[in-house]
Amino acid sequence: MLRIGVLASGRGTNLQAIIDACEKKMINAEVVVVLSDNKEAYALERGKEHGIDAFFVTPLVKEEHERRMDEILREHDVGLVVGAGYMRILSPWFIERWYGRIINIHPALLPSFKGIDAQGQAIEYGVKLAGCTTHFMDEKADHGPIILQAAVRVRDDDTRESLAERILKAEHQILPRSIDLFEKGRLRIEGRRVRILPGDTWVDKYSYPDVFYSEGY
Ligand code: GRF
Repeated sequence: MLRIGVLASGRGTNLQAIIDACEKKMINAEVVVVLSDNKEAYALERGKEHGIDAFFVTPLVKEEHERRMDEILREHDVGLVVGAGYMRILSPWFIERWYGRIINIHPALLPSFKGIDAQGQAIEYGVKLAGCTTHFMDEKADHGPIILQAAVRVRDDDTRESLAERILKAEHQILPRSIDLFEKGRLRIEGRRVRILPGDTWVDKYSYPDVFYSEGY
């Protein structure tokens, strides 16, 4: 069974989606540790509620923060690291140690709207389609090879909040599915592209009619 370590800075609804997918056996994985750079992060509580080791790792000195996270992840024999609302940029040192085994979710259709408040950026810019992306992490923020994307409509009366909510529902789908594809060995990184090897699909099982999913979902 795939052992997952989750990095999260906030409320942790994406973490919850992963935990739920594991508990419902939608994916053959378990979250074994949750790490946060924020001691108030509700993600830590969620982890503990499910009997998962959950630690605040002080971010005061970046090198020490990352060294400690790396240590804990190895102690927990983690096979996949998932950034689920982890709000820091990881150094090349950390990325190198986990490359190909570390993924992230971003609430925009990359490469549009990198960085913070992607949903607000989308509203400001006036795009008509928004969405979310899972990708392997590399040394640049919101940049590595893309695994899955899901698009949602932006409505005329949308606010940043209503759009963020619609995107979040899709995040909660493509993140567990991306983990599932990883666990099944179906992701091949070829330069910037991720080839998804043939197999089952979740489109018929766990999809919303108003979300458009990329190949592989
Ligand atoms: C999500 O929108 C995630 O994509 C972004 O931050 C938000 C975290 O939400 N990077 P949560 O903590 O998973 O609820």
